[in-house]
Amino acid sequence: MLVCVIWGACVSQQRVGSSNFSPSQQLQILTEKAINNITLIPLDSMKVPRSINEDGSLHGVKTRDWTSGFYAGTFWGLYRFSKDARLKKAAMDWTSFQKKERYDDHTHDLGFKIYCSFGEGYRLMNNEDYKQVIIDASEQLIQRYSDKVGAIRSWDHNRDKWDYPVIIDNMMNLEMLFVATKLSGNQKYYEIANKHAQKTLANHFRTDNSSYHVIDYYPENGEIRKRNTHQGHSHESAWARGQAWGLYGFTVTYRETKNLQYLEKAKEIANFFFTHPNLPTDKIPYWDFNAPNIPNEERDASAAAIAASALIELSQHDTKNSKKYLAWADQVLSSLSSKTYEATTPPFFVTQCVGSKPHNSEINVPISYADYYFVEALLRRNALMKNGSLSEVIAD
Ligand code: GLY
Repeated sequence: MLVCVIWGACVSQQRVGSSNFSPSQQLQILTEKAINNITLIPLDSMKVPRSINEDGSLHGVKTRDWTSGFYAGTFWGLYRFSKDARLKKAAMDWTSFQKKERYDDHTHDLGFKIYCSFGEGYRLMNNEDYKQVIIDASEQLIQRYSDKVGAIRSWDHNRDKWDYPVIIDNMMNLEMLFVATKLSGNQKYYEIANKHAQKTLANHFRTDNSSYHVIDYYPENGEIRKRNTHQGHSHESAWARGQAWGLYGFTVTYRETKNLQYLEKAKEIANFFFTHPNLPTDKIPYWDFNAPNIPNEERDASAAAIAASALIELSQHDTKNSKKYLAWADQVLSSLSSKTYEATTPPFFVTQCVGSKPHNSEINVPISYADYYFVEALLRRNALMKNGSLSEVIAD
């Protein structure tokens, strides 16, 4: 399907600087866009919006794809804000397609696929059906855990290259496991998430607190076999979205365990972002902090949105630095709310994202996960401004 409808003036993103940035105003704008999307994008389990193809058409994916939960999750987020029944229905409809993914045994991405859809829904609806899907998906995910390695295996592809690859992104699947322990009363999900975080803490980080993308382990003893990248510029470079996944993952893992090692790591990753000489003033990083042709390289708005959402939460754990984190997040949200980063092709909100530059895939386009974390960050910032707390938007 060719997506050629340009957003009307009525739903155009605001031109704002950080001084007058309003999360609730931006959420209102996105709510109107999302309501329009319901009629523009037909419900189709085989074509869940992911990004835009080079010819401008919608890149839709089957639910098997790792990104399939974000579109439903974005509807949940905007329903949380607006309480508009049309958004609730859309969220439920797109979420229902994800249900079979709880038994997907080919990937670690069950957190993204199930927790960003069913998890978001459960936090609003408290329904038994959704709760069971989260527990089932967690049970499936821990089948990929090896005690010999001490981590959950990420990928099954590229077997000629890697024996037991674990990627920094995998930190994002742990939240679902922590929640599954609370929902089921079974401690095993928590224990595995914690062991995975310990292994990642021990081996994924360099001395400058940037992280490797892929650590490949020997399956028989958990020793490191290779330190690689897959989507970054080089094995020793700092792929921007990977840094954001780590920041978010260790912030959540601290929330759930209260282990100060994890808080320290989240603070160190934040510091890596803050002090990096290649970070542009609008705080939207290049797709890799060490991309070879900076400043003539694409930005990755998705990395910025993920990091902003994480920093808003971190501001509540590391209160000494909370002003710094919130100022940074506000700058990101203000930038993403500006015309410069506004997607002009429905159903997307934010553009200038990079999926995988080394694979020449999704370069400088809107991508569904940028929208999801943009909305999440706006909801968090809005809750903090309104209530002085995140309890309304983050389950404890
Ligand atoms: N988790 C895959 C990515 O961030 O592209």
